[in-house]
Amino acid sequence: MKKIVVAVDGPAGSGKSSVSKHVAVDLGLKYIDSGAIYRAVTLFFLEKEGALAKGSDLSGVLEKINIDQDFQSDGTSKTYLNGRDVSDLIRDESINKSIGIVSDDRRVRDFVNSLLREWAGNGSIIMDGRDIGTVVFPGADLKIYLDASIEVRAERRILEYRESGKYLDENEVKNQIILRDGQDGKRPYGRLVRADDAIYIDTSDLNQAEVESMIKRLVEDKTA
Ligand code: CDP
Repeated sequence: MKKIVVAVDGPAGSGKSSVSKHVAVDLGLKYIDSGAIYRAVTLFFLEKEGALAKGSDLSGVLEKINIDQDFQSDGTSKTYLNGRDVSDLIRDESINKSIGIVSDDRRVRDFVNSLLREWAGNGSIIMDGRDIGTVVFPGADLKIYLDASIEVRAERRILEYRESGKYLDENEVKNQIILRDGQDGKRPYGRLVRADDAIYIDTSDLNQAEVESMIKRLVEDKTA
């Protein structure tokens, strides 16, 4: 297959990571989860400072952060913070509450972006996030923008939590998503915006397998 860089962007709960992982396994691409890096940086600050407030000084500590990610052929993606497997910890609701402050920070974004470009190397990749097709890889071969209604995205998040044994209040999850949509859409640099050349897929009425086969077909068309 010809080398390809696939950028998948979209709001929280649009299904980016689940879909991207499956497409990666089926088509032999490397999957890179950019959100997991922002999550790991947030965890680092929360563990160090206990809390994160708007205007927190995040400078000077980024060099103390070492993040690694490992994508297995069975579709699992592990994230390591200074050698520790934090893949589960970074999915905690406490991270979602503070992540906006971290991902608004320009130095953090530059740090994450250079890590993402380094990991991508020269191979075929599928990377998901908010600004992959606009900032990280504006020249990506294929750009997808995944979307869904707030109700559907909240439902998916609740199911995800339930599968990992966490039972959260539906309204709380929905409000958290609304809050994060606001933060992700407003930051001055690297905000969530649909690239002009991105293919828009509203997944509200599609199941995961349907979205996956749509994307696989698009990748195959590009690499044929
Ligand atoms: O899985 P979900 O869509 O909820 O989130 P995620 O992809 O793990 O990303 C979590 C958060 O990281 C987002 O809400 C953004 O604040 C930040 N993020 C970002 O700013 N830029 C990216 N490329 C990826 C994530």
